[in-house]
Amino acid sequence: MGATATFPANKRTLSGSGDATNELTAPGSASTNSEAPADGGASRLKFDGIIGESQALRQALRLVEMVAPTDSTVLLVGETGTGKELIARAIHERSPRKNRAMVKLNCAAIPGTLLESELFGHERGAFTGAVAQQIGRLELAEQGSLFLDEIGDVPLEIQPKLLRVLQEREFERLGSTRTTKVDVRLVAATHRDLERMVVDRRFRGDLYYRLNVFPIEVPPLRDRAEDVPLLVGHFVRHFAQRIDKVIETIPPQTMEALVNYSWPGNIRELQNLMERAVLLSPGSVLRVPLQCLRNPASKPKSRTLADAERELILATLKETGWVVSGPNGAAARLGINRSTLQFRMRKLGIVSARQGWIKA
Ligand SMILES: Nc1ncnc2c1ncn2[C@@H]1O[C@H](COP(=O)(O)OP(=O)(O)OP(=O)(O)O)[C@@H](O)[C@H]1O
Ligand SMILES: [Mg+2]
Repeated sequence: MGATATFPANKRTLSGSGDATNELTAPGSASTNSEAPADGGASRLKFDGIIGESQALRQALRLVEMVAPTDSTVLLVGETGTGKELIARAIHERSPRKNRAMVKLNCAAIPGTLLESELFGHERGAFTGAVAQQIGRLELAEQGSLFLDEIGDVPLEIQPKLLRVLQEREFERLGSTRTTKVDVRLVAATHRDLERMVVDRRFRGDLYYRLNVFPIEVPPLRDRAEDVPLLVGHFVRHFAQRIDKVIETIPPQTMEALVNYSWPGNIRELQNLMERAVLLSPGSVLRVPLQCLRNPASKPKSRTLADAERELILATLKETGWVVSGPNGAAARLGINRSTLQFRMRKLGIVSARQGWIKA
């Protein structure tokens, strides 16, 4: 099987009579599905490595096409595993900066103090342990792009410095008074609801508005189920080729189960499952361990409205350290007044340990 073998993508072939199998056909051979281009849709969208033909993905890619050649900051918003990093790369590669580096920094993976030094760099002796000068990622990305992954995890105290970079394109290395100018294009990504974080005062409003110049929503896989067969074909070919295996068919019931699953882990989950399936398949028919498709989203625990209310109130109280009133208190966060909250708490049996009560 060749690397560019095609795969029938039409969802209708899956839910048909049930006797049709999904064949992985070789390039150049006649495909029964004229809607499926030979490269799994990538050529029509002209984005290398980004598989999918759904309206939702096309819409996102249209925005990518528009913004990529400019220097505008882009904010990619989407659930985990939806392809935010892949899209960030596509933006860089379609920009005039493509021959320079795209430097990546995952803001969630590094503690706050280190993050600042990673981003801005430091001079020797700037802090305990700074034994040598270090150039930060911003400077490394000079004339290229900086991809700040998980931007919602940047601590509040670092956010003003980041805002300054975005507005003035300048900063100081830690331990230095010399201002450094940079020419960097920023692409940021997050799975968090930044707007909500601004309301909760966990993210600065000014930085959010500066980042949100050109937001692109990367849709979850459950909203583009028609992409599932294309992605399955793509990953099956990829993993089969890696271990010199030949997978020719995918049973229609299997494909139907894959299309109907809600993929909480999105494309990364699908990719991992296909790797496993290819390894586990004894012959040329793909065997997917369908028992892995447990779907927490579609099987909510049976619980009452009171349970949900109790959980929400308890979580909010925990966040506020059991402060009920005031602008940062639980009542304000929940959008109700103090006496209503206290009434609901009594009714639900939620009581503060500090006041000698016991939590329900
Ligand atoms: N449309 C796509 N076509 C092919 N592969 C894709 C597509 N979207 C994502 N992938 C693959 O899925 C995996 C997850 O994508 P990526 O790392 O870009 O997601 P992410 O949104 O950044 O996830 P996270 O929030 O967990 O960091 C990667 O291996 C990527 O190559
Ligand atoms: Mg990512």
